[in-house]
This record gives sequence, C-alpha cells and structure tokens, in this order.
Amino acid sequence: MTSLPITLTINGHRHELEVDPRVTLLDLLRERLDLTGTKKGCDRGQCGACTVLVDGNRINSCLALAVSHDGADVLTIEGVARGEELHPVQAAFIAHDGFQCGFCTPGQIMSTLGLIAEGQAGDDPERIREGLSGNICRCAAYGGIVEAVLEAQQQLAKADRRTAA
Ligand code: FES
Ligand code: FES
Repeated sequence: MTSLPITLTINGHRHELEVDPRVTLLDLLRERLDLTGTKKGCDRGQCGACTVLVDGNRINSCLALAVSHDGADVLTIEGVARGEELHPVQAAFIAHDGFQCGFCTPGQIMSTLGLIAEGQAGDDPERIREGLSGNICRCAAYGGIVEAVLEAQQQLAKADRRTAA
C-alpha cells in the first residue's frame, strides 16, 4: 500500500514521516519511533494501556490511525518529565504505590493528565474512579492510583494558584 506523508509533533519534536495508512499511532510510536513507553494491552480500545494525549485530549492510540492525525501534537509518557525532574503526577504514582508491574502505568498517567486538564479530577475519589475507568489495571493498584491522582491534582492546583497570584 502506498505510504502517505504526515507530520507529527511528538513530545515537542517535529517528525516528518512516510506512513502506511493502516498503521496505528500506537504502532508508529512503538515500532518506528522506539517510544515503547506507550503499551499495547489489547489493540482494540478496551484496556487503555495505549493512552496518549493528542492535541491535549486523551485517546486510545491503538484505535487511531496515524494518518488521521497529520499535523497533531502528541504527548507520550516519555515527554512528561521535565528533564530529570518527574512530573507531579509521576511522582505521586510512586509515592502512593500506584503501580505494581507497571504495564498499565504509562496509560494511567497519560489518562490522569487528560482528566486533570479536563477539569474533571476534582477531589471526589468516586469521580476519579469513573474518570479513569477506561484504564484497566490487572495488578489492582486502583487504591494507590486514586490517592496519587488526588494528591497530584491538589499539588497542581496549588502551583496554579501560586502562578496566578
Ligand atoms: S491497547 Fe489500546 S485500549 Fe488496549
Ligand atoms: S500495575 Fe500491573 S497492570 Fe496496572
């Protein structure tokens, strides 16, 4: 099949690529760009392990054809830390044991970033559980994940207030 030219900005870097139109964003990230942090747990939109942010919105990259997102801005787990410094959401996942095997973790963290950006995290654990219900964890780290999201959300809100003041 003929490849199509697309441009993607991934974690702040611009990539000009020739892509088979059948290739998903997930496979493009993992197999062409060696960004293997984004995981494939099902490849059919049911587990959330492949969650990334595209133009700020969380999506299942296994259900997204790369060519459909020509020109998009993609953030993957590899682009979340600021240099050596972990993002508050990453640090909170560690502090609260929000993972065990770690396979769902990149997706959980990207989904959390999306949830916070949507203004949907709030301080109600039930709402967080609902908001992250598209991200399955077989190690059942959900308790720690919810605590991590609550803490990260509070810290980010505080930081926002400081910036606004
Ligand atoms: S790999 Fe995409 S939702 Fe499971
Ligand atoms: S930490 Fe193992 S699947 Fe979530």
